[in-house]
Amino acid sequence: MNLNQISSRAHNHKIEESIIRALLSEEALNQFRLGDVSHRILAPFADEIRLLSKDYNDLAAPAPGSITLQAAAAFSLYYLPINYAKISRLLRELPNFPGDKAIRVLDFGCGPGTATLALSDYVSNPAEICCVDQSEAMLATAMKIARQHLESEKGKNLSFSTKLPGREGGLYDLIFAVNVLCEVGPEAMRERAKELADLLAPAGVLLVLEPGLKDTTRHLMALRNELIAEMPQLVPIFPCTHAEPCPMLRESDRDWCHGTVHWNAPRLVRQMDELLGFNKHRIKFSSVIFQHGGKSAGALRVLTDYEKTKAGGEVLICGGCAYGRVVLPKSARSESNQEFRRLKQYDLVEISGIDESLRCTQNTVVTRISSIPDPSLSFA
Ligand SMILES: C[S@@+](CC[C@H](N)C(=O)[O-])C[C@H]1O[C@@H](n2cnc3c(N)ncnc32)[C@H](O)[C@@H]1O
Repeated sequence: MNLNQISSRAHNHKIEESIIRALLSEEALNQFRLGDVSHRILAPFADEIRLLSKDYNDLAAPAPGSITLQAAAAFSLYYLPINYAKISRLLRELPNFPGDKAIRVLDFGCGPGTATLALSDYVSNPAEICCVDQSEAMLATAMKIARQHLESEKGKNLSFSTKLPGREGGLYDLIFAVNVLCEVGPEAMRERAKELADLLAPAGVLLVLEPGLKDTTRHLMALRNELIAEMPQLVPIFPCTHAEPCPMLRESDRDWCHGTVHWNAPRLVRQMDELLGFNKHRIKFSSVIFQHGGKSAGALRVLTDYEKTKAGGEVLICGGCAYGRVVLPKSARSESNQEFRRLKQYDLVEISGIDESLRCTQNTVVTRISSIPDPSLSFA
């Protein structure tokens, strides 16, 4: 994938309209175009979301075949825009593959096609995308939304299947496993993740995204350690900057490595939140991106936004041999470390001249290597 090919304006503001056109009535579409969709139309879907949300919080996956078309539609109206925003944030972390080739993509556990839609809005490369889900209702819903959303999209060739393809069908440049490994369960997820990794082409990328809950995230952190120990060709490239065992997992039995998307929640999500009493003002996720034969960045990853404290300020950082809270006391502020107070989650940095207790001095030099310019996402 060539990042030069990325369309300059992702049209994520259209995704809600595509979902409504695909799944709701003409009346709902007209209401949406003028303002809010009536609570009368949305309320039955809110009831479905309450049930789904309880399952997700209890980490109890719906059984195959138990997802009805109504539940798949409810998922699409509420969780699709939320997960689309998380995936869109992570797509910015993908490596710049050389060449301007057609890419082969696998969206495992695609649900209503969330990752497929986000990717199609993000890259202009032609792509063969194989959407796999064990639920027929989800696949039928994914087809309907894709037909609405991608109708004007050029060069995206989608196929849908309930079965994971084998290697004989060809290898993939990009594989998504988004909010699905937690449904497979902590034991089976290892085997499933290995099967997916085995389908990667050289330099191919596996993007695993999970809910940002403590348990799902810590399972993902453990899975990362196991996968790279068993498959040395699989290199974690985000957020990890190294292939050592995860230091957070080693040093804490409470912390979990998760990210936050700041966004202006789109209208449907805000309306559903009102009905449900939920709040998706900030959305949390956990993720690891692996690359077949990839190269670790080697620098330090900032895991939390800069936070002011009484003593000064601090960020949590992770690198090959460095992990912990780096503190900048007020008394140590200097020109060479002024970048420290602007650090944001997931910035890549080099920090030289900190003492062993990870305290900056006036001589500390902080250099930002890369940063996503505006991490907030807007559907406005
Ligand atoms: C929480 S949904 C996530 C959907 C989509 N990836 C997203 O993030 O919006 C999980 C999906 O994974 C599917 N799924 C769960 N276990 C699966 C398996 N073993 N094989 C294929 N699909 C599976 C479910 O049917 C469901 O559609």
